[in-house]
Amino acid sequence: MPPRPIFVVAGVGSGSGTGGASARVFLNAGYRVALIARGSDSLTKFAGQLGGEAAAFPIATYNYKEVETAFSAIKKHWPDSDIRVALYNASVGIFKSFLEVTEEDLDKITDSNVKGAFAFARQAVVAFQDQSLDANGKRGTLLFTGATAATRGNSMTSAFSAGKFSVRSLSQSLAKEFGKQNIHVAHAVIDGVIATDKPHRDLSETPGDKENVGLAPESIAKSYLYLANQDRSAWTWELDLRPAHEKW
Ligand SMILES: *[C@@H]1O[C@H](CO)[C@@H](O)[C@H](O)[C@H]1NC(C)=O
Repeated sequence: MPPRPIFVVAGVGSGSGTGGASARVFLNAGYRVALIARGSDSLTKFAGQLGGEAAAFPIATYNYKEVETAFSAIKKHWPDSDIRVALYNASVGIFKSFLEVTEEDLDKITDSNVKGAFAFARQAVVAFQDQSLDANGKRGTLLFTGATAATRGNSMTSAFSAGKFSVRSLSQSLAKEFGKQNIHVAHAVIDGVIATDKPHRDLSETPGDKENVGLAPESIAKSYLYLANQDRSAWTWELDLRPAHEKW
């Protein structure tokens, strides 16, 4: 039996959202799970809950040096495994009217969605390039969690959209450049509120619709697994996901 492939996810938070659900879904699908996040306490706790095939690789910030160090540590931790799927889920939610947006907000957005996304993508692509083709004819799959704000601006989303547009265009550029190397890059537009246990503002466009319960993190994660399982003869660059009752 070949060793389990590795799934790397950046942006896990406390484990209750999309990153955490993806870790569980890929673990159950037979992957080793490498968790990258800022803040080591909750990350180490979450890795412990997942068990021996999961490990925490906390970083202070998403820059080139830190992300490279995390990927080196992952390869050292599981030297006999290939990194086959990498998910960049790190995000900063800044929803403010334009004149309220500060320079500090923009630093957070660019650190996470520009510099962080580039740094993560670079390490994933470099890892994939060294690997042989898998059963689906791919070297690896790089996934990005996007949002409706990646395709259109809105009042309150000038800062958030700046980051999400950037992630979307990066994913498209990479899909075009590295498809020829059998590296699959995909972007998921998440359209609606994600039902985590973290209380947050109601950004849904259907306030008052009790049946619009939001997107379940596990259901988003299952779509990520579906993307990872696609073969190179017919694969998706962009997928959009929304609850049945979302107005769009
Ligand atoms: C993961 O992605 C979701 C959807 O964009 C976002 O709500 C969540 O904050 C992200 N997690 C982290 C830790 O950034």
